[in-house]
Amino acid sequence: MKLETPRDLFVHEMSAMRTGEAVIADMLDEMSGMVADENVADMLRHHQQETQQQIANLEQCFRAIGATPQRVPCAAIEALRQEFREFAGMNPSPQVLTMFALGGALKVEHYEIAAYRGLVGKAMLMGETTCIQLLETNLLQEEETAGKLERFTHEMGRRMLATV
Ligand SMILES: [Fe+2]
Repeated sequence: MKLETPRDLFVHEMSAMRTGEAVIADMLDEMSGMVADENVADMLRHHQQETQQQIANLEQCFRAIGATPQRVPCAAIEALRQEFREFAGMNPSPQVLTMFALGGALKVEHYEIAAYRGLVGKAMLMGETTCIQLLETNLLQEEETAGKLERFTHEMGRRMLATV
């Protein structure tokens, strides 16, 4: 595919995001099965479902501009998944693994926030109103999730410190 115009770049970056969201859905599933706290697991599962909706929103965005998703890997999200798996293999205590999962998910959300902000900006430049709305919906969910992850990390850390 040619990469010459802002629209080409938009399609390329949305394609990478589409791949990344699919990896994130798997990652949230994997994390929710490994954490030691039911509330954390529920929150991760909830965002896993939102992620499925976000994938549908991205697909709708491709349709709105008459583009087809390209096969573009998402190296950053793959690296964050790898980081989580390597840490999980280092025999951490269940609570420490849970804290690491919360932190890992927060890194993912911040990557997504930056990526969606970039995509919303490009959709604005091109005047693609349907895409602006769809991408802002995803962006808002990532921002809310980042806030929840920070609160859960704080609560979990406090509980752990209180029992040492
Ligand atoms: Fe997402």
